[in-house]
This record gives sequence, structure tokens and C-alpha cells, in this order.
Amino acid sequence: MTVRSSIVVSQEALHRRWGGVVPELASREHSLHIAPAVRQALEVAGTSWSEIDAVAVTHGPGLAGALVVGVNFAKAVAVARSVPLVPVNHLEGHLYANWLDVPGALVTGADHRGPEFPVLCLVVSGGHTELVVVRGHGDLSVVGRTRDDAAGEAFDKVARILGLGYPGGPAIQAAAMLAPGEAAADAADALTRPWMRGTLDFSFSGLKTAMLRQVEGDASNGGRPVGNPSRMAGVAKSVVGQFGEIPERTARLARAFQEAVVDVLVSKTCDAAERFGAREVVIAGGVAANLRLREALVARSKVPVRVPPLVYCTDNAAMIGAAGYFRLQLGHVAGTSLDIRPGLRLDDPNGM
Ligand code: KG4
Ligand code: ZN
Repeated sequence: MTVRSSIVVSQEALHRRWGGVVPELASREHSLHIAPAVRQALEVAGTSWSEIDAVAVTHGPGLAGALVVGVNFAKAVAVARSVPLVPVNHLEGHLYANWLDVPGALVTGADHRGPEFPVLCLVVSGGHTELVVVRGHGDLSVVGRTRDDAAGEAFDKVARILGLGYPGGPAIQAAAMLAPGEAAADAADALTRPWMRGTLDFSFSGLKTAMLRQVEGDASNGGRPVGNPSRMAGVAKSVVGQFGEIPERTARLARAFQEAVVDVLVSKTCDAAERFGAREVVIAGGVAANLRLREALVARSKVPVRVPPLVYCTDNAAMIGAAGYFRLQLGHVAGTSLDIRPGLRLDDPNGM
């Protein structure tokens, strides 16, 4: 599917000032920017309202105030232009980033058309960690999910614990790259993996607590790392990277955390792919931008892996358009009574 324009208005700088998303600020920003962003999208695509056949919008899951802005705007467009209104689950949107035909997509061993069903998808975002079997358009089953924190949420919380800032995922990834030596060979820092054996579910809150204990332990130990003596190696050293100078110890902890999360995500994804006979594995959501996750999945998956380019991993409207296109083919259209669904699940039978 071709993307003729993709306009993203980021609120990252605003939320960084508060160390996280402030719901009221988020919805006000949406309402300020939505009309100019849509106008710009039409302009860049070289098209106009008269050529638009349908309007797709996310009605959940997400923050109520932000969803209301998008849904109301889309309703206004649908009424004014007499076009169908297509509600799209935000998470299904992330998944459909893999159906976009865009430069930079990572595709191993598969062809460049759409993914082939059945597809096993790992959705990893700030609010969700789910393993989904997709047998056809509109035919999704969730076979595993997190029982506590989402992967992205864990990255964000651990980054705060390590003093690495917001958003946490990119900050941890950058810090981990600065840690000396090879990640795989570094047994000294290795954290116990939360395997949740016998299920395809995840749990990340224990890793966050483990990191907190390390940092607090170091602090009460006069700034010296507690635990394994080989950790003493990098005590006083610091490393300099893209986000400035950080202690080497912080870089090692960031890498240990990232390795543990990636190991669990990749192992369960590959298990699920095998169990459900998936022909392809795809990843979606903000955490799919993580380079270590991409690398490990490509290395360990027995079936082809497909990952959208970075800009289509984090929130964007092109992915909602792609999901909306296939939903429209299935006749999934809403009226002006469409309501927001802040807690909408990926496998909601009714979807609206
Ligand atoms: O999907 P997304 O853009 O927003 C929603 O949650 O819907 O995902 C945002 C999440 C944040 O938690 C952010 O820290 C994480 O994705 N993230 C990353 C990376 N880039 C973004 N996590 C790990 N590594 C990254 N490179
Ligand atoms: Zn998202």
C-alpha cells in the first residue's frame, strides 16, 4: 500500500518537560494541530477532499481526551463529505504498518508484497505487549499479553530509575550501546529473565524492581556497585554518547535490562510462531523501533521477519489508514454515533 503523505505532529518535546504524557495537555495539543495536519497531508499528497473515499480514525485504546478530538474531527469529515467513517483499533493500526509499502522496511526472506497469513505479530508499545495470531484481515486472536507493565512502559520507568530521561526506550538503547564489551558475553550484569513458563504471557514489573534495587543498593554502598565483584571494573568511569556523558555503570545496567526484555520478547515470539504455524513474524508499536530487538528477532526467527521503518513504528496516521482500508473492505463502517473506546482490546469481537 502506497503512502502519499504522512504528517506526524510530535508532542514529545512538550511531554519531555513533564517526564511523561500529561493527558490534558495532550488533548489540547491534538485539538490545536489536527486541522492543520490534515490540510498539510492533503497538500503534500497533491490531492483534495473531492478525491477522498473514506475516513479512518482511531477510537481506542488510548487517552479519552485525545481520542475524542480525532473521532469528532473524523465524524465532521464523514458528514461533510458523505464518505464512510471507519473505526480502527489503534493496536491493529500498529500491526498494519507492516502492510505499508515504504522505503526502509526490513524484510527478511519474504517478498515485498503484504505479509502472508497466518502472521504472528508482536505488538510492543507504551501501553501494550501482546502476541497476536492474524489468520486473515479482521481475524485476530491474542495468544499472549503482559500481566503487568507493557514493554515500553518498562523501558520508560527504568530510564527514569537510571536518570536517563524521557522517552525511555531510545535513551536506554543509546546508553546500552555505550556499555563496554559484547552484550551476549557479559554474564556479570545478566538479570534473571521473567519467563512466565508454560504461558505466552509476559511480566516486566519484576525487572523494573530489580533495577531499582541495583540503583538503591549502589547508592547505599557509597556509589559502588553491589553484587558481582566483576562489576567493579567500570565504577568510576563514564562514557560519552549522543545524550551526553553517563556513568559506565548506568550504561551496563541499561544494557542488562534491554537484553533481558529482548530475550523474553524474542523467545516467546519465536515459540508462538512455531506453535501457531506462522508463515511470517512481524513486529509493531513504538518498541519495535528498538534496534537490539530487531537484530535478535531476525537472528532467531525460523520464518521471515518483517519490521516497519522506524517512523512507521511509532504513532502515525498512515498505519491507521492501512488498517482502515482493509476494515472498509470487510464493511466495517460506523455511523455518527461512534463512541471512543479508551480500553478497547485487540480481540474485541465487536470492535466498535
Ligand atoms: O507506540 P508508541 O509510539 O505509543 C504508544 O504507546 O501507543 O510507543 C511508545 C513507546 C514508549 O514507551 C517508548 O519508550 C518506546 O515506545 N520506544 C522504544 C524505542 N523507541 C520508542 N523502546 C525501546 N527502544 C526504542 N528504540
Ligand atoms: Zn501507539
